[in-house]
Amino acid sequence: MPIYPDRFIDELRLRADIVDVISSYVPLTKAGANYKALCPFHREKTPSFIVSPEKQIFHCFGCGKGGNVFGFVMEYEKVSFPEAVELLARKYNMPLPESQRQKTTTKEGVSLKNLYAINSFAVNFYHKNLFSKQGRVALEYLLSRGLDIEVIKRFKLGYARDEWDEFCSLAREKKASDKLLLESGLVVASEKGGFYDRFRNRIMFPVFDNQSRVVGFGGRSLGEEQPKYLNTPDTRIFKKSNLLYGLNLARHHTDEGYFFLVEGYMDVIGLNRCGIGNVVACLGTAFGEGHIRLLSRYVRRLVLVFDPDEAGINAAVRAVRLLLPTPLSVQVLFLPEGMDPDEYVGSYGRDAFLALEPVDGFEFLMETISKEYDMSDLKQKSLFFKELFELISAIENSIIQTGYLSALAGFAGLKDYELAREFRSFQAQRRDNASLRRRVRASGNTNIGLRQGLRPKGPEAELVKLALLCPEYRGQIKDLLMPTDFEDADLLELWQSILDANFDIGRLQIGLQNGEISVRPEILSWFNEILFSEVADPEEMIYTSSKVLLDKRNARKIKILKEVIRDRSKRGEDTSELLRELDALLKKRRDRIGQNI
Ligand code: CTP
Ligand code: MN
Repeated sequence: MPIYPDRFIDELRLRADIVDVISSYVPLTKAGANYKALCPFHREKTPSFIVSPEKQIFHCFGCGKGGNVFGFVMEYEKVSFPEAVELLARKYNMPLPESQRQKTTTKEGVSLKNLYAINSFAVNFYHKNLFSKQGRVALEYLLSRGLDIEVIKRFKLGYARDEWDEFCSLAREKKASDKLLLESGLVVASEKGGFYDRFRNRIMFPVFDNQSRVVGFGGRSLGEEQPKYLNTPDTRIFKKSNLLYGLNLARHHTDEGYFFLVEGYMDVIGLNRCGIGNVVACLGTAFGEGHIRLLSRYVRRLVLVFDPDEAGINAAVRAVRLLLPTPLSVQVLFLPEGMDPDEYVGSYGRDAFLALEPVDGFEFLMETISKEYDMSDLKQKSLFFKELFELISAIENSIIQTGYLSALAGFAGLKDYELAREFRSFQAQRRDNASLRRRVRASGNTNIGLRQGLRPKGPEAELVKLALLCPEYRGQIKDLLMPTDFEDADLLELWQSILDANFDIGRLQIGLQNGEISVRPEILSWFNEILFSEVADPEEMIYTSSKVLLDKRNARKIKILKEVIRDRSKRGEDTSELLRELDALLKKRRDRIGQNI
């Protein structure tokens, strides 16, 4: 992932005014010093989406999303931080910095730009070939499978003619270097030292990344020739574990909130042909973490449509296992008569396909796994439970966890409470093992690590807010706040990042958005929200908050001191000095309370 120098990011941040950028996506109306709009990230009737030109940030009071100009682009375009930077740099005519260009170039001198360029050249070349005389067979094959010209064009399908080096020679004429040809994967070096085209006599399925650039190809043989599909090998721009076929189109079909995940290129195209656009496929590789990350940007739910044969079922089991602990919901759909989605919509049409009811992913998993055990054998049955308990424990959301337990109880013919009891004892055993590990790791600061509540609270949160909003108190608060004052590890992380960034909010926003500073979402929305708030009476706020803070600090000290004194006196050691210290602390507390009365 490219890293751009701070200077460049800062410059871009100055040029890409947030009001300018956001208003090119959503209409903004002036509201006092700020602008407002209907939030583009959730459905609403009255505007709760605010943009501050002064602070160069946005925040939605409805859904809690917020950030700076990069954050907006990331969220709206569903791109990563560097991609948002590139997009804005292009928009504001800022050339990407020199150091960056060096990074995208290998020792051999092939640049990413050229890799994209040669793929883009290839896609046009193959596409044109499909409509040439020699491409006739291929075109007819596609038409015979029910495709029409419009779909063929939408997917930019093509044909690699049955020639040894047609593409290769043409690309060389266009001054493509040998290194580029090889690195693109479109050309292969022969043993004799010559070059020949990887794809010959094949229908070409270009693969687009989520910025709609062609990054590689799948090539299907026309007849029975093996292998049926030949793909571009992994290159620097074609990583199969991070790409999905059809995503460039599906990303505009997110209204339903889910995507179908199918097995083949032809299935994606077949469903699209029938007006189902929310569909993607892996590129002949297993579904994995990279795909999950990619998909989570667009939808909340996946419907897997795999072949009902052994390979398909195994693939579905693997995928569901991976998806279960993630925020993506998963369902499974097996088509009747062993048809694949392309055949099914071809025979029965779109409405019939959409009317099919998928099974819940967990139900499917439960039933499939149970077939591996002899459920009439008690020992086997308990192993089955153990396997499912492992899966269920990995789920953080307790509502979902309870739901799955209840489903499992129903499946096994047990009462909910009976199964819950089994699950608790399973967990207790795991906890015993885990706590041993934790105790070894335990650090001196017992406060840290607790994530109390979701929103930050307490005097330390008030003081962080004050320091952010009222620069004149920063010095004082910096001196006052100590790491041990924080009960919330994420808030401490945020505070330390604020100090590192020297209160440069813009810089901080970048860290938060590119993932350098990682805090939970509630902290982020709290942070964005307070940037839009005001402190009515800072004097009063700092007075009260620091008092509460010092009291808490005192209380902690008193508690620790008491424990130490108890320990030492048990061992018969001298505690007189500690007792004096304790007395002083207790007196301090009394005095403070006295002041209050
Ligand atoms: N695949 C592959 N290499 C192969 C076979 C398959 O990479 N030798 C991948 C392709 O991505 C393919 C998918 O696995 O799209 C599913 O294979 P299959 O169902 O055989 O292909 P379809 O796309 O359904 O093609 P068709 O309907 O023409 O058989
Ligand atoms: Mn098929």
